[in-house]
Amino acid sequence: MFKKTKIYSLANIYLLGSLKNHSLFKTKLLNEINNSPSKSSSNIFRCDWEIHKDIKREYQNTLFDDLLIPHFIKVSKILSSSGFEINNYWFQQYEKGSSHDWHIHPKTNYTGVYYIEYPDTTAKTEIYNFLTKDKLELEHIEEGDVLIFPSNLVHRAPKITNNLRKTIVSFNIDFLKFNIKS
Ligand SMILES: [Fe+2]
Repeated sequence: MFKKTKIYSLANIYLLGSLKNHSLFKTKLLNEINNSPSKSSSNIFRCDWEIHKDIKREYQNTLFDDLLIPHFIKVSKILSSSGFEINNYWFQQYEKGSSHDWHIHPKTNYTGVYYIEYPDTTAKTEIYNFLTKDKLELEHIEEGDVLIFPSNLVHRAPKITNNLRKTIVSFNIDFLKFNIKS
């Protein structure tokens, strides 16, 4: 009756890019985030996750028009995709003691993180590997990078142990219509 469920390895990917305009827009973006409504959420110091989605974010235009949309177009080409849809986005600010426990992002095929303030000594994003039971620390990520990965990968932001703030924007994105030549 009962047959054992086995776990197999399948090649998976994540994409890590660096925004060339990051240093130009960092201060403006942080000011706009500071002016945005927020609530503390779980163990995160400031976040607009719980702010109603109909309320326009002051940082929205800088974030997308000046920074992320050109990057998403490049990523679409890498993935042989003819388009993308952004499903959701929100900022998170971490201070000493802040963390975000293991989670996935449901109802989207990719998710991502734009590292706006990311000190070298901060706790790095981790991804959990169910096959090896290892925690993969993404130690090569730097400020100004954009990480995009399949949304079913379980990941976390470990606790911040120093006095340096970390600010990210997370987003959910669907890449659509893959044009892969057979
Ligand atoms: Fe996440």
